[in-house]
Amino acid sequence: MTSATNSATSAATATATATATATAGAAADATAPLRVAVILGSDRHGRFGPVIGDWLLSRVRTREDLVVDVVDVAEAELPTAFSPHPEPDVRDRLARVAAQIDAADAFIVVTPEYNHSFPAGLKNLIDRHRAEWQAKPVAFVSYGGISGGLRAVEQLRQVFAELHTVTVRDTVSFHSAQAHFDDEGNHLDPAGPDAAAKVLLDQLTWWARALRDAKAVRPYGS
Ligand SMILES: Cc1cc2nc3c(=O)[nH]c(=O)nc-3n(C[C@H](O)[C@H](O)[C@H](O)COP(=O)(O)O)c2cc1C
Repeated sequence: MTSATNSATSAATATATATATATAGAAADATAPLRVAVILGSDRHGRFGPVIGDWLLSRVRTREDLVVDVVDVAEAELPTAFSPHPEPDVRDRLARVAAQIDAADAFIVVTPEYNHSFPAGLKNLIDRHRAEWQAKPVAFVSYGGISGGLRAVEQLRQVFAELHTVTVRDTVSFHSAQAHFDDEGNHLDPAGPDAAAKVLLDQLTWWARALRDAKAVRPYGS
C-alpha cells in the first residue's frame, strides 16, 4: 500500500469515526426529552390568559417526552422602545428571555385575540429575537370572544414564517373562553380540548424531534 493510499485510508477512517460520533451524538440527543417553552402572550391587567396557560401546562406535564418552561410576556417586562444601549436591568431581562427562547426545542404560543390580531406585548417579545426562533416548531393555543382567537393565530403564522419557524397545523381554540371554565380554572367539558391538545402536542413533538435530529447532522442554514 502506498503512503498516498495510507493517508486516504486514514482520512476515510477519520471521516467514518467522525460520522459515527456525530450519529451517536444525534442518537443520544434523540432520546432526550424535548424542551417546550409555553409563551403566555397577554400582559393585560386582569387577564384571563393564566387560566388557559394552566390548562395547557396540565396537558403538557402529562407527557414524559416533554419538559416545559414558561415565558410570560407580563413577567418579562420588555420595553417597547428598541435601544442599542439598554440599561443594565433591561439588558438582564432581555438576556433572560433570550436564553429561555434559545434553550427551547419547540414553542406553544398562548394568545388572546385583540381587534382581530394578537397582543402588542407578544409582538414585542417575538421581534426582539431572531436566531433563537430559527428551525423550531411553533404551535398555538388561542382564546377570545366569538372567534376563539383564530384570527390572531393566522397573523402569528405570517410573523413566525419570517423567523424561519415551522408552524404546526392543528391548534386548540377557546371561543367565549371565560364561559367554559369554572372558578378553579377547570374546563367544564374537557374531552374536546383534551383531544385537541393531544393532536397539537403530537404534531409539535414530531416536528421538534425531526428538526432537532436534522440540526444535529447539519446546522440550519449551512
Ligand atoms: C382590546 C381588546 C380587543 C378585543 N378584540 C377581540 C376580537 O377582535 N375578537 C375576539 O374574539 N375577542 C376580542 N376581545 C376579547 C378577548 O379576546 C378576551 O377578552 C380575552 O379573554 C382576552 O385575553 P386576556 O384576558 O388574557 O387579556 C378583545 C379584548 C380586548 C381587551
